[in-house]
Amino acid sequence: MRGGERGIETRRRERGNDLLSKKRETKRYLEIGVDEGVLMSHIYADLAVGVDPALRISANLAKNKQKTYLISATSDSFFADPSLVANLSGAPDLAFLDGFHTYEFLLRDFFNTEAISDPRSLIIMHDCLPLNDVMAIRDLAEWRPKMMGTRFENWWTGDVWKMIPILQKYRPDLKIMYLDCAPTGLVCVSNLSPDNGILKQRYHEIVKEFGERPNDAANIDRMYSNIQITAASQITRGGEHRSFFRI
Ligand SMILES: C[S@@+](CC[C@H](N)C(=O)[O-])C[C@H]1O[C@@H](n2cnc3c(N)ncnc32)[C@H](O)[C@@H]1O
Repeated sequence: MRGGERGIETRRRERGNDLLSKKRETKRYLEIGVDEGVLMSHIYADLAVGVDPALRISANLAKNKQKTYLISATSDSFFADPSLVANLSGAPDLAFLDGFHTYEFLLRDFFNTEAISDPRSLIIMHDCLPLNDVMAIRDLAEWRPKMMGTRFENWWTGDVWKMIPILQKYRPDLKIMYLDCAPTGLVCVSNLSPDNGILKQRYHEIVKEFGERPNDAANIDRMYSNIQITAASQITRGGEHRSFFRI
């Protein structure tokens, strides 16, 4: 796969999660990693909470929402402070995890989000389906010169693809769906168990185990060979989304 592209369709223009927020009649929406707020501006929700330590808002976040709160903090600080989490006024119906792109950060964001969810919540993780191994490089200083001048110049997924084998191994009870949204996929996780503490309890062991797994084309290919990718259009256009997620 080195230098090449995965079969995932780069020309698709489905965003997926914004349309899903409308279909799910989302009351409470949580986004970790907001940046300029481009995606959040497309979300339909009664209440939206965005968390990012380096907000650079340029989009109209109030659109299609009754209340929007922005929290200038890392996700770890957010989850550690119940008074910040209380801005959500309850479990998120939909959470989008798009903060720092290494697997140990996303693992914490995932188990912390699951802990404040309810069994009907849906967690969506971004960038877990890299198109090649270069965009998955963990270290930005190493990644930048390798991507310069390529058609994926600004695409950094980091190694969050490792969340897929982690959840497959440690949380076989979850229902996971892999969508072909451009550019680097959406991983939708339902059938959540807020009281399941396995990922948090075994965090250091998991980080060590998957730190030893090389972040290379062979292992990314192995990850792809263990999943089935679904066309997002099946869910966002016409389809009854409840039949796809265990919610
Ligand atoms: C890819 S951007 C988010 C884009 C946004 N979700 C969208 O689709 O429009 C990633 C963001 O994660 C933020 N970030 C980095 N470390 C973070 C952390 N520890 N907690 C929360 N957000 C973080 C960065 O500041 C950056 O704005």
